[in-house]
Amino acid sequence: MMKKAIYPGSFDPITNGHIDIIERAARLCDEVVVTLLPNTSKSPVFTVEERMDLIRDVIKKYPNVTVKIFSGLLVDFAAQENAQVIVKGLRAVSDFEYEFQMALMNRKLNQNIETMFLMTQSQNSYLSSSLVKEVARLKGCIKGLVPEVVEKALIKKYQHEKS
Ligand SMILES: Nc1ncnc2c1ncn2[C@@H]1O[C@H](COP(=O)(O)OP(=O)(O)OP(=O)(O)O)[C@@H](O)[C@H]1O
Ligand SMILES: [Mg+2]
Repeated sequence: MMKKAIYPGSFDPITNGHIDIIERAARLCDEVVVTLLPNTSKSPVFTVEERMDLIRDVIKKYPNVTVKIFSGLLVDFAAQENAQVIVKGLRAVSDFEYEFQMALMNRKLNQNIETMFLMTQSQNSYLSSSLVKEVARLKGCIKGLVPEVVEKALIKKYQHEKS
């Protein structure tokens, strides 16, 4: 059976933690659609277009990974895409409670879609877009946390800000 997954997030910006999840999902499933959710409650630093461009650049080496924007109910997008799986990454216990609640709600909304959790690698366990932005804003070194294109974009974003 053909397995298609969607991997949702705000990706503001994409980090090595996200990429690890994408790579592993792409090995498990036939197709992965990275799903940029623009309308979260967070106030983003990168525009949707900037975030899409960075994701596109990063995923171009994976033939079975694409990216799309979606705002609305995630299970509706999964159904629309004929995807059976929602992929989520798990870091600390702090991710668990929220993700557990979301997974149960999504199952209530659509029983045909399964949420699949992939545990982070230890070297990414402390990594989030927010923390990377905070370090970049304060002119700290973010090498090894994000791909080079993202590192450049972050440095550019914050170059005129006083730390
Ligand atoms: N370092 C990481 N390791 C594993 N999974 C991760 C990592 N960072 C994010 N994820 C997962 O990626 C998905 C999208 O997360 P999200 O867009 O919120 O990224 P984030 O890095 O947590 O950003 P923010 O700091 O803005 O919340 C979620 O399933 C999240 O758990
Ligand atoms: Mg997050």
